[in-house]
Amino acid sequence: MCGELRAEHAGQQVILMGWVNRRRDLGNVIFIDVRDRSGLTQLVFDKSDNAALHEKASNLRNEYVIAAIGKVRKRDDKTINRNIPTGEIEVVVTELKLLNESKQPPFLPGDPVLANEEMRLKYRYLDLRREPMQYNIELRHKVALAIRENLAAKGFFEIETPFMTRSTPEGARDYLVPSRVYPGEFYALPQSPQLFKQILMISGFDKYFQIVRCFRDEDLRADRQPEFTQIDLEMTFPQMDRVFEVVEGFLQACFKVAGFEIKPPFQRMSYDDSIRNYGIDKPDLRLPKLTDVRTAFTAEQLQTVQLNPELPVVAIRIPKIDELSRKERDDNRPLFGERKEARLVDDIKRLEKSFPEAVVKLREMAGAEAEDLLVLVGGPLQTEKIGLRADYGVFMAAGAFRVELARKYADRHMAFRQGGFHFTWVTDFPMFEYDETEKRWNPAHHPFTSPHERDMDKLESDPGAVRALAYDIVLNGTELGSGSIRIHRPDIQKQIFRALGMTDEEAKARFGFFLEALEYGTPPHGGIALGLDRIVMILAGAESLREVIPFPKTAKAVDLMVDAPTPVSEAQLKDLGIKVR
Ligand code: AMO
Repeated sequence: MCGELRAEHAGQQVILMGWVNRRRDLGNVIFIDVRDRSGLTQLVFDKSDNAALHEKASNLRNEYVIAAIGKVRKRDDKTINRNIPTGEIEVVVTELKLLNESKQPPFLPGDPVLANEEMRLKYRYLDLRREPMQYNIELRHKVALAIRENLAAKGFFEIETPFMTRSTPEGARDYLVPSRVYPGEFYALPQSPQLFKQILMISGFDKYFQIVRCFRDEDLRADRQPEFTQIDLEMTFPQMDRVFEVVEGFLQACFKVAGFEIKPPFQRMSYDDSIRNYGIDKPDLRLPKLTDVRTAFTAEQLQTVQLNPELPVVAIRIPKIDELSRKERDDNRPLFGERKEARLVDDIKRLEKSFPEAVVKLREMAGAEAEDLLVLVGGPLQTEKIGLRADYGVFMAAGAFRVELARKYADRHMAFRQGGFHFTWVTDFPMFEYDETEKRWNPAHHPFTSPHERDMDKLESDPGAVRALAYDIVLNGTELGSGSIRIHRPDIQKQIFRALGMTDEEAKARFGFFLEALEYGTPPHGGIALGLDRIVMILAGAESLREVIPFPKTAKAVDLMVDAPTPVSEAQLKDLGIKVR
């Protein structure tokens, strides 16, 4: 292949096939760099050796596809190219065949300046020829292979589950597939194989995994795609620890293929600790924790700055970026946003003028050094209900602002960019989340997650206080995966559906098949799913999932290369019994 030849091959006859990466015409001598997946080799055409061949080479253009036969020759010291592995040799061509021409491409794989993303996605086949993309796709392949080998060695079977199925509740909208045979009826593409993998446990398969495509019609962000790939797994009779061990094992294998060593076991923290220390359920451990500095102040002092003394006063510290100017503070305020549940106090100098001793104390509590940035987030004076949720509201506002500040000043705060890989498990999530607009409880994970046994009595009286046997794996502020120990008793499953405001009839209509399956000797079971795209993105050091998915969709859910979605013909719609409004 084009990247394989070395000095020791000098004198050998070789055949190389690939794309013309670059042509340099020096008059009597033409150099062509021929490229394939493995790298490139310099071909030489000397007019004095073979004028006809030299003439043929002069007609080659970028991205033409060629085959060349020639002899490997060592370059003399002056012309060795130390920047490429084949730089010590060149191939003196004796025969050349043009396999195919190419139109002038809108951008070249070797262009130093990247084409805009729309162009890259429209001509994805050209974009994929670029070395960084070839690296990312190869990495993706190796990571998937490492996972398969690792899990297979532990006795997991990879088992496929259907794509044309019923709606699975993971909180997004479904992509629907109309049935031609049953007009007006639809399959749903799976948001995850959740119920199938649980049914595989009921079927006695014991350890299941699948590297599987999932489909979710949701608002897209840099770390979300409408179709994405999960590493999905499930086991019978596991404790949480066993799931953690399996995941840590295959993550270690994944990181190894990318050249990184990570050391499990990862640290663990409860959801409550995560909120109180980081203000978020996917903490970025590269930055210092939040600190509740309420006790640095008296209640009167807090009231004069419009902070509620009954709620936490949370200090955000970002190391080594200094106090901000007035203009910078003004610019940052929109990042905090208009909030009912929290107030920002960002001028610590001014606070210091009024309450010097309190600020000394608060700096000490927050562990702030002279050149660190400090801001405070507290609760507003008028707060409807003081309690756990009001506390969390303040911490979460601080947590969100902390992430924004860290991102904004990332270049000044190098630990954020180069701090290595900091994993943590977050456990004991709440079972339910309250939806203020819909005025009802939703599952925080999904409705098949088991509540803590000792919280079962609060299901009706205090749903907000029920904790779940749910866990997330988090890396540097990104949620890599989520899972839980499941409900295996039909009576408890029905109870949870009721707590979610579903009548028995509704539950039966949506999940009857599953409730029935639970009745036939369901073993205790649990599992998890991790985002493969997200893992590869982090390993590749990429900023978007689109860099590690061969054919991704844009932020507007469009495939620019094939131009999908598209309208379909009247005849097709008629066949399906569908009329477009
Ligand atoms: P969850 O919905 O948390 O859990 O998804 C698991 C992981 O899948 C990845 N992910 C995504 N990646 C890219 N684009 C998306 N739109 C997207 N949505 C999710 C994330 C996430 O952590 N059935 C449960 C798992 C279980 O309980 O076993 C589930 O799907 O990395």
